[in-house]
Amino acid sequence: KRLVILISGRGSNMEAIVKACAAQGWSAEVAAVISNRPDAGGLQFAAQHGIATAVVDHKAYSSREAFDAELARVIDGYAPDLVVLAGFMRILTPGFTAHYARRMLNIHPSLLPAFTGLHTHERALEMGCKIAGVTVHFVTAELDHGAIVMQAAVPVRAGDDAKSLSARVLAAEHQIYPQSVRWFLEDALVWDGDRVHHRDGMA
Ligand code: GRF
Repeated sequence: KRLVILISGRGSNMEAIVKACAAQGWSAEVAAVISNRPDAGGLQFAAQHGIATAVVDHKAYSSREAFDAELARVIDGYAPDLVVLAGFMRILTPGFTAHYARRMLNIHPSLLPAFTGLHTHERALEMGCKIAGVTVHFVTAELDHGAIVMQAAVPVRAGDDAKSLSARVLAAEHQIYPQSVRWFLEDALVWDGDRVHHRDGMA
């Protein structure tokens, strides 16, 4: 099977998936890593690992529709079975999300449905939450709302700031994102209406 991973920045989740794919011998390949930012740090890691890279710079397009159309054209050139959003920081149009329905995953650094959108760690700290975490979900038109594949919780500790909390959450991200992608690739995810489960009841 073929994966295309979309990034906007450092790409540590992309890196975790590339490494798990190799280390665990998935019958899958990362066909391409695509960034909307030419300076995304993760592009270098991908290129060094022999993975095709592409940049579709959102600043070169006058509308979200035009950007998404070009992005979809580039993605589909790699004929992926699954599109993986890994720190891809763009709002996507309904047409784009519909095109990749049930074959595009995202990772969001909160326990959804709490804290959709940006600055999740700051907001969790502000609320005095004692548990924080991360969610892998399928992407739908509504931001951070698609079917949940996997979640991991981490403790919030006294004295945490957004930096220390995000580091603890990120370590959990690097565990559950590769695992979620693996479940998809193994055809282990079963749909029940708008919800998705692991076929052996693991989630
Ligand atoms: C992660 O925290 C992810 O959950 C969020 O953006 C960050 C991306 O980090 N959406 P990286 O680029 O994967 O290192």
